[in-house]
Amino acid sequence: EDGLHPTHYPWSHSGILDTFDHSSIRRGYQVYREVCAACHSLDRIAWRNLVGVSHTADEVKEMAGEVEYEDGPDDAGEMFQRPGKLSDYMPRPYPNEEAARAGNAGALPPDLSLIIKARHGGCDYVFSLLTGYVDPPAGVEIREGMNYNPYFPGGAISMARLLFDGLVEYPDGTPATTSQMAKDVVTFLNWAAEPEHDSRKRIGMQACIILSALTAISLYVKRFKWAPIK
Ligand code: HEM
Repeated sequence: EDGLHPTHYPWSHSGILDTFDHSSIRRGYQVYREVCAACHSLDRIAWRNLVGVSHTADEVKEMAGEVEYEDGPDDAGEMFQRPGKLSDYMPRPYPNEEAARAGNAGALPPDLSLIIKARHGGCDYVFSLLTGYVDPPAGVEIREGMNYNPYFPGGAISMARLLFDGLVEYPDGTPATTSQMAKDVVTFLNWAAEPEHDSRKRIGMQACIILSALTAISLYVKRFKWAPIK
């Protein structure tokens, strides 16, 4: 059956002219890296995508450099390890689906790149899912290793509750409550699924201004030209 309908939250980027809260994207990246990345890949995002969005180029180079990537073959035909660079994609937690399932009691943690677009309810759904773990109601049996979450279709999800107050420490001093971390990681994932979001809204607004001006000018010219003709 369907999950519980998620609450509609007033996302600061949901208005037609509202852009993302980039401090929230930055904190959300931290939550993804320190919590979600243990199980979920983010295949469509390269390190360079973070530059100018959540981090400076120097920060991203340093973060990428801390990850080892396999490259090659070299002149001798050997594969080798090297530190990551801006053009590398986010590292995966598991080498393949089999390993991912083996690490999660048979369930597959989906890639999170497009999850906000892929799931009905988008930001509201993922926020509700992350913050919505409760005890199962009387009469509902949850299998060993599964968890009850009323927002997940069917109610039994293999991902356990992960976010608890104070789980991460935000360098900007924002208190890392469960709902703050959920909000930030959802904002980050919405950016990942829709990196063109901010410029789409800015260009849309510019198009409206220009088209209004052109309409006004053409109305004025038309009246001006037709005025002497009776
Ligand atoms: C599923 C988000 C951390 C394991 C999911 C889904 C989302 C999600 C949106 C899809 C639910 C659906 O299909 O509608 C996140 C976020 C995390 C996080 C934002 C960090 C805050 C983790 C971690 C693990 C994990 C650390 C492993 C310990 C799984 C598994 C599933 C899943 C196994 C599949 C569940 C099922 O189909 O029953 N997660 N996750 N997740 N996640 Fe996570």
